[in-house]
Amino acid sequence: MSSEVRKAVFPAGGLGTRFLPATKVIPKEMLPVVDKPIIQYGVEEAIASGIEHIIIITGRGKGTMEDHFDHSFELDATLERRGKQDLLAVSRNVATMARISYVRQKDPLGLGHAVLCAKDFVGDEPFAVLLPDDVIDAEVPCLKQLIDVFDEKDGSVLATQTVEGPAISAYGVLAGSPDPANPRIYNCTGMVEKPKFEDAPSTQAIVGRYVLTPRVFELLEQTQPGAGGEIQLTDGIKALLKEEKVFGYTFAGKRFDAGDKFGMLQATIEFALKRPEFGDDLRAYLKNLPL
Ligand code: UTP
Repeated sequence: MSSEVRKAVFPAGGLGTRFLPATKVIPKEMLPVVDKPIIQYGVEEAIASGIEHIIIITGRGKGTMEDHFDHSFELDATLERRGKQDLLAVSRNVATMARISYVRQKDPLGLGHAVLCAKDFVGDEPFAVLLPDDVIDAEVPCLKQLIDVFDEKDGSVLATQTVEGPAISAYGVLAGSPDPANPRIYNCTGMVEKPKFEDAPSTQAIVGRYVLTPRVFELLEQTQPGAGGEIQLTDGIKALLKEEKVFGYTFAGKRFDAGDKFGMLQATIEFALKRPEFGDDLRAYLKNLPL
């Protein structure tokens, strides 16, 4: 049976200040890991999870994302003329891989506000949210894992990873307890955005994949700006929690924060090591570095 979750929202309207100066002109979402812009990893994950319609929230200076997922007639004609059929297929595949709509977020008022910008496209059905700077390497796509839990438990699901120590302060953190029947599922009773280490209610940190019910839109509309003067998605989900079940899910796979310089370096190395064309050469190169 196919899932009700058919639409995915990609908030990509933020300023990407952690990656300056690269993001002064280039959207963070267009920075490559090896040879693909990071947003393409998320779009491919969504498609592999059964998503039929993608809604990208853009902002000022983000037009290259639209160009990327469109036909490039000059490039394609040149590749055809030169007989580069394999590269032509790569270029055409990006343009045709998904049905994508764009909504412009005029001011970057926060992640919750960005998600709210997709309300008219999503309508009254459950939907996914993927943060493009979280690049996830997983055998079963992370979003597919969440959709399976959504279908089984009939409640919103947030991807989590266990974070020990003070690093937890960089995340939204769940309160609650693991489900006795499946320890990957976390029965959520509350959440705190970026708590101090000593105040963190658990080690369950929220990462950038969500499956949410449409009720969250109405709640986001009523949400006041929170931490940093931004409308926070976690505040909307906290309000949702008072009315509906919400679950965490410790997905199987590895997540890289590619919106951060060090996370981007880790993602680049690990994805490059898996590439058959040069993975072995890179391994040999790294081994020979005088570290
Ligand atoms: P981040 O906080 O990681 O992104 O938001 P940012 O604000 O662009 O980056 P820094 O912190 O300044 O480096 C997570 C996701 O939410 C989007 C971002 O584009 C990113 O993909 N976002 C954030 C929006 O779409 N709109 C916003 O108002 C804020």
